Amino acid sequence: MAVDLQGRSFLKLLDFTSEEIRSLLALAAELKVKKKAGIRERTLDGLNIALLFEKPSTRTRCAFTVACVDEGAHPEYLGKSDIQFGKKETVADTARVLGRFFDGIEFRGFAHQTVEILAEYAGVPVWNGLTDDWHPTQVLADLLTIEEEFGDLKGRTLAFAGDGRNNMANSLMVGCAKLGMHCRIVAPAELHPEVDLVAAVSEIAAFTGGSLVITSSIEEGMAGAEAIYADVWASMGEEDLIADRIRILGPYKITAEMMSATGRADTIFLHCLPSFHNLDTEVSKKYPDIREVEDEVFEGPQSRVFDQAENRLHTIKAVMVATLGD
Ligand code: CP
Ligand code: NVA
Repeated sequence: MAVDLQGRSFLKLLDFTSEEIRSLLALAAELKVKKKAGIRERTLDGLNIALLFEKPSTRTRCAFTVACVDEGAHPEYLGKSDIQFGKKETVADTARVLGRFFDGIEFRGFAHQTVEILAEYAGVPVWNGLTDDWHPTQVLADLLTIEEEFGDLKGRTLAFAGDGRNNMANSLMVGCAKLGMHCRIVAPAELHPEVDLVAAVSEIAAFTGGSLVITSSIEEGMAGAEAIYADVWASMGEEDLIADRIRILGPYKITAEMMSATGRADTIFLHCLPSFHNLDTEVSKKYPDIREVEDEVFEGPQSRVFDQAENRLHTIKAVMVATLGD
């Protein structure tokens, strides 16, 4: 039976079957080919889409905006200080109002519960553009990038080094497990993922033929990995933790030596971005040791970070088209 995602919200990958995730990746690949060929099918013609942001964004905001315009929809950006959201009006009330005006709602913010309330009350599909716990649209782009590089995802190994409790580690674990991949979370013990999530993901992996390893050992984590993944050490909203994270995550910085520790010449480097890889940003000037990856790796031949960033557009478009399109 064909996969039908019409009317569904997209809050976290745990809510989707392996087949549904694979269908979104296939649709994203198809939409990417069409975009490059200049074919516009306008499957969201005449629809209005709200883009609700509590936190800043470059890629996610631009991907939703351009995807809307490519497909004939109107995107309306609503920053956190632009509307009453959460200050003078409850999330549930805002959801019911936005649902009367808009055909779909993207939300990026802090508490995951907020996006759940939006989805419960809006009556239209709600898409998670990142919360403190999950970043599911990012993982679709990551998986598409790995698939473009290596082909079939089943059996591939991805090693994430850094904060093993953040939205990216959580989402990558689930995405890999759903697609029968081997995922390693490489982090100091105090940043290992929640045990309940590890148990749930391990169960999924056992079913799909994948695996999940949580380790503090760089050697164990990197061995044989096709993709090494990094994220910032302090996520948005964790600015007061920067000094502590630099102290505990310093040894997990991605270096050329770490890339070689995979034992493979074809390992690729991935990063959701934004990244501290040199001293040219305000924050990295202030905290030079905050760099989670060496510039040499970020700018080197194994890096696929900008292909990955481009794939945000095609995968986000796929989510909107699959849940709302003709
Ligand atoms: N990767 C990502 O979500 O980037 P933005 O924060 O720029 O949207
Ligand atoms: N973990 C990061 C991801 C950014 C795309 C954050 O939440 O800031």
